[in-house]
Amino acid sequence: MLEEYGRHVGARHLDLGVGTGWYLDRCRWPVDQPEITLLDLNENSLALAARRLARYEPRTVRANVLEPLPLGDARFESAAANYLLHCLPGPLESKAATLAANLRPHLEPGGVVFGSTILGQGVPHTRLGRRLLRLYNAKGIFSNLEDDADGLEQGLTSALTDVEIQVVGAVALFSARA
Ligand SMILES: C[S@@+](CC[C@H](N)C(=O)[O-])C[C@H]1O[C@@H](n2cnc3c(N)ncnc32)[C@H](O)[C@@H]1O
Repeated sequence: MLEEYGRHVGARHLDLGVGTGWYLDRCRWPVDQPEITLLDLNENSLALAARRLARYEPRTVRANVLEPLPLGDARFESAAANYLLHCLPGPLESKAATLAANLRPHLEPGGVVFGSTILGQGVPHTRLGRRLLRLYNAKGIFSNLEDDADGLEQGLTSALTDVEIQVVGAVALFSARA
């Protein structure tokens, strides 16, 4: 995951669904002072990640990635959405398409989107993993029982180009360009 960040992050970066900001804290940036925008639905995640990344003075935006993003005319060289799609409701094709369409106006031409999501179909899960998946889906923490790599590809392709997907274990790593 850190390698993916190191490969893709640009000097102006948008991170969607930041969680704790762990990857942003440890990844290799192409410049000393990247301009980082953190976007999440959860104020606590934003506060924790912003504290952790205080040395970069990140901008924080509280928003839902399934709605048009309140980013004004900001445009980014890179955007990341890690372990976010499997938390969102609905079929993977439609949530990936919505995310891609909402991001598209905020990417520089040729800008990259990358991320990861846990799939529910067409990938191996251990017995324990499958039980956890069902439990998280029943509690509404995850919504990914039907998610597969094809849906991800179709959703991303609807608004972005150069879509690449690599499945590692039960996780799809993806990248695409504006
Ligand atoms: C599992 S965490 C992933 C954290 C981080 N990207 C990582 O890989 O460690 C999912 C994050 O997405 C956020 N999130 C969930 N649904 C969201 C939505 N609809 N819009 C924006 N953020 C959302 C959660 O608040 C949480 O911070």
